[in-house]
Amino acid sequence: MTSITIRSARPYDVLIAPGLLDRAGELLRPLVKTDRAALICGDHVYPLYAGRAVRALERAGFHVCVKTIPHGERHKNLDTYGEILSFLWNSELGRDDPIVSLGGGVTGDLSGFAAASYQRGCPFVQIPTTLLAAIDASVGGKTAIDLPGGKNQAGFFYSPLAVLCDPELFGTLPVRELRCGLAEAVKTGVLFDRALFDSLRGGWDLSLAGELVARCVAHKRDVVERDEFDRGERQLLNLGHSFGHAIEQRSGYSLSHGEAVAIGMAMIARAAVGRGFCDAGTAEEIVSLLRTLGLPTDCPYPAAELLEIMKHDKKRRADTLRLVVPRAVGRCELIEVPLAELGGWLRDGGAR
Ligand code: GLY
Repeated sequence: MTSITIRSARPYDVLIAPGLLDRAGELLRPLVKTDRAALICGDHVYPLYAGRAVRALERAGFHVCVKTIPHGERHKNLDTYGEILSFLWNSELGRDDPIVSLGGGVTGDLSGFAAASYQRGCPFVQIPTTLLAAIDASVGGKTAIDLPGGKNQAGFFYSPLAVLCDPELFGTLPVRELRCGLAEAVKTGVLFDRALFDSLRGGWDLSLAGELVARCVAHKRDVVERDEFDRGERQLLNLGHSFGHAIEQRSGYSLSHGEAVAIGMAMIARAAVGRGFCDAGTAEEIVSLLRTLGLPTDCPYPAAELLEIMKHDKKRRADTLRLVVPRAVGRCELIEVPLAELGGWLRDGGAR
């Protein structure tokens, strides 16, 4: 088993090994003193893995109540959040009882947001079932829901007690979902790790999933430990996200997070070339790897519409927005871009 400790304000371990789902109870038992737990599970995941999770928790002496939530970013909202809180209350969950999230990024974000706020905070465990959640969303303590005006506009930094990653669960992921996880792996490579980037050219291999997750989580750990609360360096992890979030939102969430981030990375790479941040070869390599992995790289929306959405970006200052630009594969930089110049960046990235 690979164990990566995240030394945040409340340290926790990310455990990665095949078969961990069936050991969830045994691994959680030493971390909490109660005998009740709530399992929050995406509706896609429920028929596949909820039974095994419940049995694993019951074997360790937990009485488990289960709540399924609808999948998809469209449901990461106040309504689903309210439903979860009512469920916790009706199930008489106490504030020492753990909430276990079993699902992808949406389930983790929602469950974490509920865990952080229910009775002012109860223990929280993540069992990511998607590659994207394992590589990125389950690690680092960000929890959130979307508001009608924008993505992740309400949230807490709230560290889990543990993250239990069982790469065997990725064996049932639809191809489109796998690709979205690979987009976050490409992001990690472009940010920090040329060798990781090159290795992704070989495509997806389930037998190497544990290694891939461990390598990406180790990079994220290094960043989160230096800047847990996202004031500086952690914003590098937003490579492709400033444009990507706007594209995702503009699509009404018909484009998934990973697809929108892939387009966002391709756009920022193209736009960085003309401004002298990187050479054309770097942008070509990034776009070409994303395409090889079956990810989209072309922006379907006009710059003006994306600009309107980006005005509400959390990283916006009075007159500027922070963007992450590639210098080379493995090295990126945070820069402040005046809002007045953003339209030019979007158009050079390929937006109409
Ligand atoms: N997903 C970006 C971060 O955790 O900061």
